[in-house]
Amino acid sequence: MTVYSKITGTGSYLPARRVTNHDLAAELAAKGIETSDEWIVTRSGISARHYAAADENASDLAVNAARKALEAAGLEPGQIDMIIVATASPDFYGSFPSTACIVQHKLGMRNGSAAFDIGAVCSGFVYAMSTADAFIKAGNAKNVLVIGTEVFSRILDFSDRSTCVLFGDGAGAVVLSASEEPGVLAVKLHADGSHGDILCGPANPSHAAMSSQKFLYMDGPAVFKLAVSVLEKVANEALQAADMPAAAIDWLIPHQANLRIMSGTAKKLGLPLERMVVTVDEHGNTSAASIPLALDQAVRDGRIRPGQNVMMEGVGGGFTWGAVLVRM
Ligand code: ACO
Repeated sequence: MTVYSKITGTGSYLPARRVTNHDLAAELAAKGIETSDEWIVTRSGISARHYAAADENASDLAVNAARKALEAAGLEPGQIDMIIVATASPDFYGSFPSTACIVQHKLGMRNGSAAFDIGAVCSGFVYAMSTADAFIKAGNAKNVLVIGTEVFSRILDFSDRSTCVLFGDGAGAVVLSASEEPGVLAVKLHADGSHGDILCGPANPSHAAMSSQKFLYMDGPAVFKLAVSVLEKVANEALQAADMPAAAIDWLIPHQANLRIMSGTAKKLGLPLERMVVTVDEHGNTSAASIPLALDQAVRDGRIRPGQNVMMEGVGGGFTWGAVLVRM
């Protein structure tokens, strides 16, 4: 019998502190940095974002999202045999210990489940889903907790107005389970390390660049150009692999970085904007968390229903990009 993998539960979590563009503009103005709600909304579509409390780490956000996903799947933590956490802002440098191991501990799991982090920045969730899918289809896992979680507010340079206004914190999770009916229909992953320098996090302590690069760095226009060119391509690759026309996509969930990039992708695929899930306005760019956060929101508000086809696609630092086409 063919083994498929299917999403059996979704969950998400946003830290309590919501910061609007107006709040942020006022905070930056106090430091002599000028920005405005109008600039941020026009360039990115972002109106607000959430920031984690000082005592909240990526693992805490992840655990909150995971509990909801487990509840939706009707599973106890002990029934999970693998945890994959996509994050570029792990609790510890170099994911040592991995955020996934910390999540396992905080969920009270003592079942010896595998647990590891994946680093593909904003494509991280798509990479993690693809990995979970492969383990399940190979018969090596039955229920995998796939989480995207970020506390980018910790690595933002609040003196750089071109980046600090764009990002937020949050977590999203799904339970991917072995199933007799198709769920994940196609996955496509890519990377091009030659563009590593246009979007990167703080340098490692042993790295010569540490003294000059303590925060996230992004060449926005360069990222914009690359993102637009790869997102349409990778979505079409996934559609081709599933032998499905773009018109069969019920919901498009692109990485929520910039509304202009997202709308451009939908248009190129010939999809009406109403079929795209948008959370970037309220969440900002939450990197690896953005896709599962948007997915959970649309599942819980009843837009995404069982049997529908959902195209999730991400693009981020590395440079990395990929798509996962699923039937819910
Ligand atoms: N407020 C006011 N003015 C600003 C701000 C701000 N917050 N930030 C920049 N500006 C100014 C710049 O200084 C510049 O002024 P100048 O013309 O006098 O020099 C002007 O606005 C235009 O700046 P650009 O960088 O050219 O603005 P652009 O239209 O390219 O928008 C943006 C910038 C929003 C970053 C855009 O390039 C973008 O979205 N890029 C893609 C980012 C992305 O998708 N990242 C996610 C993928 S990977 C990941 O998520 C980790």
